Amino acid sequence: ETVEWDPEQAGKGEYDHFMLKEINEQPTSLAQAIEGRIDPVNGRIALSDFEPGTFDDVDSVQFVACGTSYHAALYGSLALNQAGVHSTALLANEYSVSAPPVDENTLVIAVTQSGETADTLSALKQAAAEGARTLTVTNVVGSTAARAADDTLFIRAGPEIGVAATKTFSSQAVMLTLLGQRIADDVQGEPPADLETLLPELESMPSTIDQLLEYSNAASIAEQYSESRSYFFIGRGLGFPVALEGALKFKEITYEHAEGFASGELKHGPLALVTPETPVFAIFTGQEDEKTLKNAEEAQTRGAPVVAVCPDGHPAVEVADEHLTIPDTDSDLAGLVANVQLQLVSYYAADLLGRPIDKPRNLAKSVTVE
Ligand code: AGP
Repeated sequence: ETVEWDPEQAGKGEYDHFMLKEINEQPTSLAQAIEGRIDPVNGRIALSDFEPGTFDDVDSVQFVACGTSYHAALYGSLALNQAGVHSTALLANEYSVSAPPVDENTLVIAVTQSGETADTLSALKQAAAEGARTLTVTNVVGSTAARAADDTLFIRAGPEIGVAATKTFSSQAVMLTLLGQRIADDVQGEPPADLETLLPELESMPSTIDQLLEYSNAASIAEQYSESRSYFFIGRGLGFPVALEGALKFKEITYEHAEGFASGELKHGPLALVTPETPVFAIFTGQEDEKTLKNAEEAQTRGAPVVAVCPDGHPAVEVADEHLTIPDTDSDLAGLVANVQLQLVSYYAADLLGRPIDKPRNLAKSVTVE
């Protein structure tokens, strides 16, 4: 007697797709990412990957990355600016034509899951040649980007098979949050003011996401809006990169049109596209939520259904047509928790449409040409 054995199917375990498996792995991958890197006794970021004072001389940070990794980089860059360190996030594929000047006090951080993205490698090389210090944040030990930079930080997410990046995005963003706090601590000689409130929330991230995965209503939201013409995602502050990421994931696996905007930009043009057939997913992170709610209402007035991604009891719940709930957490992390709901909406929408979720057409897991 023989047993049919499909190694790929076996790798998916109980899940129909790697993407869903990897979304559900986030409590574990995040626990692995932060393990040993937070020092609760001293209330500081441990990150023993780097010697004490490694970042003392850094006066500005440039992040370079592509696609989803760029969204994580933008998240890290905004958080670093909030912590008082000058930083920018740049698309690696634009770096050769528009890189800001660098010197030995500029830290250029390449963010790349695979460590093999040609655009990112080329930006990293250029920055090093121009005299910047370099650091790679990656998932793959021994990858080209890990070997090319002065320093490396591994996100320890485990293998990601689905072309759509999910668990590696959350691990990158959490690691960049940790790294940013550590850089700010070195540069300013003391931990950033809000670190004390952030640390316990960071440590509970795995259980926060675990809770969300238990009760997510993303499948029914995906079904309700599956006949729409376009899907818009808006967010402010740390919600902005999450809006961009929500839209990228959606278009990548559903093949439907989706776009992400900074909430305040909606009224500067995109509002012309808004109709009853364009649901707007509004991400609330606790940063000027009242303004984002007003922006969402502007879309709602034009007939668009609004889906609020926010905790229960938030003022947006009353106003919105639908609600994707997230556990209450620190505003530095709320966007990442909201993103898990958006990953699930994309997944279920693509599944309803019968798309080849783990291998979307025209895309590769790692893009090794410029
Ligand atoms: C996201 O779902 C895509 N797979 C893509 O945008 C990806 O993030 C990008 O190509 C960068 O890849 P990297 O992280 O391996 O450098």
